[in-house]
Amino acid sequence: MDEADRAFAGALEACADLDTLLRLKGAYVGREGSHAARMMDLLKAAPKEQKRELGAAVNAFKQRWEEGLKARQADLEAAKKAVGASSWDATLPPPMPARGALHPLNRLMDRLVDVFRPLGFHVEEGPEVETEEHNFDGLNIPADHPARGSADTFYLAAHPGRLLRTHTSPVQVQTLKRYGKDGARLLNEKGGIRFLAPGRVYRKDEIDPTHSPMFHQVEGMLVGHGIGMQHLKGTLEYALRALFGPHTEIRLRPSYFPFVEPGCEVDVSCPLCAAKGCRVCKGSGWVEILGAGLIHPNVLEFAGIDSKEWSGWAFGMGVERMAMMLSQTPDLRLFFENDQRFLEAMGGLD
Ligand code: PHE
Repeated sequence: MDEADRAFAGALEACADLDTLLRLKGAYVGREGSHAARMMDLLKAAPKEQKRELGAAVNAFKQRWEEGLKARQADLEAAKKAVGASSWDATLPPPMPARGALHPLNRLMDRLVDVFRPLGFHVEEGPEVETEEHNFDGLNIPADHPARGSADTFYLAAHPGRLLRTHTSPVQVQTLKRYGKDGARLLNEKGGIRFLAPGRVYRKDEIDPTHSPMFHQVEGMLVGHGIGMQHLKGTLEYALRALFGPHTEIRLRPSYFPFVEPGCEVDVSCPLCAAKGCRVCKGSGWVEILGAGLIHPNVLEFAGIDSKEWSGWAFGMGVERMAMMLSQTPDLRLFFENDQRFLEAMGGLD
């Protein structure tokens, strides 16, 4: 290949867009000052007998360059069209910003609140940093109770007497105190108390598939006249059927919590195997779901409420435990690791 052809081929190869190609065209085959034009000038000065041969050679150069330029132009135009089609389509919707969503545990707590709301229950909130008075004393928990020890409870070193609440039951004490103030004026005015208290609680537990030092509970409480176990059982049956399905059975087993008397643990018939026995209910057909009981008179009296006139019930349930069961999640840590794929797959808790 001739020197001039090689230089042209290199320049053509390097030509990445149509503007550059146009400049190259000018430089090689343009009317004035181009390589082809200069060759024609030289041709004019050539001896007569060589003109025909040299003229043919110049024309051959020009023709090859023109063909090369044309082919390259077609390629570049095709490429431009293809890029345009893939990156710009005015009819496509704009990229949507990712939408946030409530955490599955919050959605489950909201659902519990929704189940109780038609029964006249409102939501009470208490602080996560509590006093020993609210977390223990007001709940009839004796000074030597093991739960008070620093092996189980996070105490705030810089604030004596302050701790991270170990359950949502201190909201009972806070609320009862508010209603019991001024000789139970508010209690009399409202004719009773009904509330749910969802929230975070803390215990010194090692992290494993079923334990976390921070977890969630929902507390429920009702105070009124002549309230007994029958009201507790009826309300729980209604609520747990709303949550787990209309065929759910419940059973109460005697248990002990210092702030209730009598106290019980409540099981539901396993919602996953219809009580036939499976891994979740460990073959028994029943799953323990919450602790409950009739409010101990000492709890009412501590808050300034006459326990001869008023009585009530309370329950506390673990939210993670219920979420794990409903979603068949084997490891509670998944709820706190915030892997978006897991959180999105948890839509079933609504
Ligand atoms: N607070 C108890 C717990 O954390 C649960 C409970 C609440 C039991 C109310 C009875 C009444 O285990």
